[in-house]
Amino acid sequence: MLKRIAVLASGRGSNLQAIIDAIESGTMQNVAVALVVSDRKNAYALERARQKNILTAYFNSRLFISREEYDRELVAYLEEQQIDLVVLAGFMRLLTPYFVLAFQGRILNIHPSLLPAFPGMNGVADALAWGVKVTGCTVHFVDEGLDTGPIILQEALPVARDDTVETLHQRIHALEHRLYPLAISLWAEGRLKIEGRRCLIDEE
Ligand code: GRF
Repeated sequence: MLKRIAVLASGRGSNLQAIIDAIESGTMQNVAVALVVSDRKNAYALERARQKNILTAYFNSRLFISREEYDRELVAYLEEQQIDLVVLAGFMRLLTPYFVLAFQGRILNIHPSLLPAFPGMNGVADALAWGVKVTGCTVHFVDEGLDTGPIILQEALPVARDDTVETLHQRIHALEHRLYPLAISLWAEGRLKIEGRRCLIDEE
């Protein structure tokens, strides 16, 4: 059965585009992007969605008295839209426990480092500043912590001597665009099983 996903994004939405492209090319078959939500009115991710006639919603944090109120409203909307899976793609808000509980095991995030190294907002810059020789990206389930949920997929790449945050992030993005559709497909096919901290992938 087709799974309805909502993509939550605050920025340019290149991961959203990769997901849309994977669906259009038939690489990802059992998923539809039903909705794109942003906390930024001018996020380019919203524009990408509009170009594909995907439903969009802007959730303005200034209209809510607390983070939990924001999440309550957002969860209610996602449930109303019968969303099966929430896909965070550069969404710059930490979800409250209320949200995480409402969509337990049904929220994914992508992060531009090899977690648990360099969580948080500046994963690429922090890894570069630390001087690591290898970094990469991680797709994981979302729990109450900051980038702490069970890891689904990871891929590594070498840091080049002359890398800047921009050049490194560009190469990480290329990995992300491959890995995220793959992880979403695995979830949609029911092939991911969480056991404690570990996420086991069923072989076909
Ligand atoms: C990605 O690097 C992702 O890992 C991080 O935010 C960035 C979003 O990029 N969480 P985009 O908006 O999908 O281009």
